[in-house]
Amino acid sequence: MSKLTPPLPKFLRPAPSRSHEDDGAGEGNGGEPGRAGKVRESAAEGSANVVGWLDERSGISPIVRAQFYRKVPKGTNWFYTLGSATLFAFVSQAVTGVFLAMYYEPDTSRAYESAAHITNEVFLGELVRGMHRWGSTVMIILIFLHMARTFVFGAYKYPRELQWVIGVVLLVLTLAMGLTGYLLPFDQRSFWATTVAVNLNASAPVIGPYLADFMRGGAEFGAASLARFYALHMLAIPGLIAALIGAHLYLVAKLGTTAPPWLKAEKKALRQEGI
Ligand code: HEM
Repeated sequence: MSKLTPPLPKFLRPAPSRSHEDDGAGEGNGGEPGRAGKVRESAAEGSANVVGWLDERSGISPIVRAQFYRKVPKGTNWFYTLGSATLFAFVSQAVTGVFLAMYYEPDTSRAYESAAHITNEVFLGELVRGMHRWGSTVMIILIFLHMARTFVFGAYKYPRELQWVIGVVLLVLTLAMGLTGYLLPFDQRSFWATTVAVNLNASAPVIGPYLADFMRGGAEFGAASLARFYALHMLAIPGLIAALIGAHLYLVAKLGTTAPPWLKAEKKALRQEGI
């Protein structure tokens, strides 16, 4: 590990743990602190440092180090930031969503008015609602771009197949967030657009009718449907997305990222020439 990673900045070095053996020992060398004195000095410095304090108690620095001091392949470029950009879009959706949930009422007779109230009366409501609405489109565009990057760079191949599969599930869940969120303003457009989408689902073979019934919460679109879409949009799907992003990032930290294909080809050619 130490061979591969550069020395840690001071704030990431674990604070020395206190040892009873050192207590009261090590001074009396013409005013020069002895070994125990030096340890005590650096322990004092460490305890003044909040990160050092946390690390001593949680042992978190190896995790932070693995994440931030990873070696990245030569040729890593801006296209590698698309995954992090998608993550940022998700966090932004989560934060703005929490504020919207403070005012939104998932009731068929109140949903439209509560959404209009957010836009027209709540302080910065229009901005937050706009960020959430446009953010959903941005997240979907970013996720497709990130997927295209990993595909073109061949990052779906061994040993990253699981990462790709988790990614596909994340894509489906992100699209499901778009579908479930679209109904929530409960205006004419969202109502009829969602009715069409659910009817399309119903036409799928075997599971289609069951899926549509589950989404509607019965045979007709109504109060039960709105409650379901709200629960899925607010709790179930974001919870799943957060858990899967955790697994996805764990694999990024464990396997690292793939080198661009043109560098791999260069390396292969050099190997074939025996260089
Ligand atoms: C919420 C959605 C997603 C988030 C937050 C996310 C995040 C990330 C991050 C931060 C990385 C490392 C940096 C990078 O390569 O960009 C990464 C890598 C990767 N992601 Fe995603 N991702 C998401 C969706 C997807 C999707 C939809 C796919 C494909 C179906 C996918 C497949 C991969 C693969 C194969 C890698 C490894 C890249 C490599 O080894 O070079 N991810 N992801």
